[in-house]
Amino acid sequence: MAILIGICWLASGLPAFADDDSMGGANIGERFFLETRFAQFFFTNSGGDANFDLTNGDPVMNFTASIYGPSPGPFAGQSMNCRACHLVEEHEATGNRTYCDFAARSPIPNLGDGQNTTTRNAMPLVDALLPRNVPLLLHSDGQFASAQDLILATLTGRNYGWTPAQYETAIHHIAHIVREDDGTGGLAQQYGGWSYTITLEGLGEVQHQYFIPPQNRMNVSVTDTNSPNYVTDEQIVQNIASLIEQYMLTLVFSQDTNGNFDGSPFDVFLIKNNLPQQPDEGETSVQYGRRLLSLVAGLTNPQWVTNVIDGQFVTTAHGQPFQFGTNELVGLEIFLTDQSNLAGATNLQAQGRTAGIEVGNCISCHAPPAFTDFIFHNNGATQAEYDGIHGAGAFMALAVPPLAQRLTNYEAYLPATANHPNATGIFESPPATNNPAQTDLGLWNVFANPDFPAPQIGLQQMLPQLLAVPAPQLGGLTVSGTNLIFTATKGAPDWTYYVLATTNLSTPLASWQIVSTNAFDVTGQFSFTNALDSSAPQFFYSLALGNISSAAALPQMIARFKTPTVRDLNSSEPYLHTGQLDTIEEVLQFYVRTSAQARAGTIRNADPQLSQIQLDNSAVAPLAAFLRSLNEANYADIPCPCQ
Ligand code: HEC
Ligand code: HEC
Repeated sequence: MAILIGICWLASGLPAFADDDSMGGANIGERFFLETRFAQFFFTNSGGDANFDLTNGDPVMNFTASIYGPSPGPFAGQSMNCRACHLVEEHEATGNRTYCDFAARSPIPNLGDGQNTTTRNAMPLVDALLPRNVPLLLHSDGQFASAQDLILATLTGRNYGWTPAQYETAIHHIAHIVREDDGTGGLAQQYGGWSYTITLEGLGEVQHQYFIPPQNRMNVSVTDTNSPNYVTDEQIVQNIASLIEQYMLTLVFSQDTNGNFDGSPFDVFLIKNNLPQQPDEGETSVQYGRRLLSLVAGLTNPQWVTNVIDGQFVTTAHGQPFQFGTNELVGLEIFLTDQSNLAGATNLQAQGRTAGIEVGNCISCHAPPAFTDFIFHNNGATQAEYDGIHGAGAFMALAVPPLAQRLTNYEAYLPATANHPNATGIFESPPATNNPAQTDLGLWNVFANPDFPAPQIGLQQMLPQLLAVPAPQLGGLTVSGTNLIFTATKGAPDWTYYVLATTNLSTPLASWQIVSTNAFDVTGQFSFTNALDSSAPQFFYSLALGNISSAAALPQMIARFKTPTVRDLNSSEPYLHTGQLDTIEEVLQFYVRTSAQARAGTIRNADPQLSQIQLDNSAVAPLAAFLRSLNEANYADIPCPCQ
């Protein structure tokens, strides 16, 4: 069995096993990430013996499903673990993975419930927990507001073979494995041979790398529930989640000590040309990307990144030279060009490097340096898959219930949860030939869903950004008779705006008085009338954005998914949440198609930015070259800090 310890992607500035508390739990977290005994299959087939050696493992582990055809599963003979779907070097001949797999949708344990795969494509975990300036929401539908919640739900959920009704059983089983583990198993042997009891007490610390941070230490061997040292099953599983999270925090693309990415040819190009590698203080990623575009478009003597001299990829990892040359530069300029900033595009056309004005507008959602905005958009992926099965126009015509209807019949429309174990989840399912009601509406399932309370605050915070609510423009002040009439235009229909007033301009806006609450009409206008009182002091007015009702917002959540990073795409195909597209070129052709459809108004709830993409097929080759320059070198050639 090939289990690898200490895979790269540790930030190169960090020592291999940092002994500060925030990093200390990573190593033991990795062991839990690899642990196969937490699954329902082991529970059912081990006769209650935590150290049982399964002779016949869960059949789902026999093969790694792949778009290239199945290969032997690295954990064959055992049961489910995180790594089975979040692979790294297990299938090196086919390619390294950024902690995802090779399947369009990943196989899950067979419970006879008709579900054979995950709903969505397994996403990379490298950079998944990167700090961001929007609330952290995980899974492509934003179902989890913390890694801790996600891990707890995964360990006790369907991917591990547990049904929503089995939560307590799962918690008890996982704690039982931890309490009873004797350290003889193959996995334990790779982590110093300590039992979980000894490991969690911090006694494996003699060997520095098995250090447990003080806040994660616990004595799981105490059986007397009245003892002050007794830890509950729930506490044990929470602790496992915390340690796995510490491990996942170490999974980042290579960065220098200042937090600048430095592992891809693109990053090396920025370094060689003294270009800024991240936004300035107070600058957004999109603003930084636009600034970068003007800087690269103005480079008179670009310093190219040349294979071998500036870096090298392991052939088996990427099969491409480590380079950033003219083609990649053209692709970068197309990627960063949006409708507000056509300089790069006209420049390229004037130089004869592109046939027309190519506007990638990729920057709007995949701005550097993370190449994601971490929020949710609809780029047409769900519709493409659905219409591919049910015919053009089918997704447009699909009946999707409004909020009120959805609330009165949770089970008919929303995903199964512990509160609603029998819910159908028809809008969180891959489309199927035999059931046209079934599709994946992504964020729609989570937004304003009372069974997912944790993400709601974050979603409310990002609503203006999600819905790209423009700042309304103040029209004018007119006096009519004894009335003052105040108008505004270009507000977003259905949103509440407050008219605020103060007599003293130096008062902070938050304490101005609300004199009127307004909704813009469908044309985005409103007017506000106030009686003029000549004896009153002078008033100053302002407009502030309020909110939108969940009922009005819900239809705009249809088919939105979290923007993935486009770093190291060579290690994460197939692409999109549907796993439908196998190559970078297919994704680019997908955007050529869906952006044209969005302009024609034939994509349901298309993101407004989608129609701003304006590409023809001649943009595909340079864009693909640029995207490949975001592949990482850090497999073997750059000394890995963790081996
Ligand atoms: C059976 C396959 C499978 C297993 C087992 C599995 N995952 Fe996943 N994981 C997925 C899929 C599929 C997604 C995407 C889910 C979605 O978008 O709805 C995902 C998403 C994630 C994400 C979200 C990343 C992001 O950027 O939002 C994290 C984190 C994660 N998994 C961690 C784990 C951990 C930790 C474990 C083990 C406790 C685990 N996974 C076990 C398939 C799996
Ligand atoms: C409106 C926001 C938006 C714009 C503009 C946009 N993307 Fe995306 N991109 C997304 C979202 C959201 C997804 C995931 C969609 C899904 O899976 O349903 C995605 C997925 C991708 C993927 C697949 C990644 C993976 O791991 O599956 C690639 C590659 C990609 N985009 C490249 C681009 C390029 C190149 C451009 C410019 C031509 C671009 N995108 C423009 C939002 C956007």
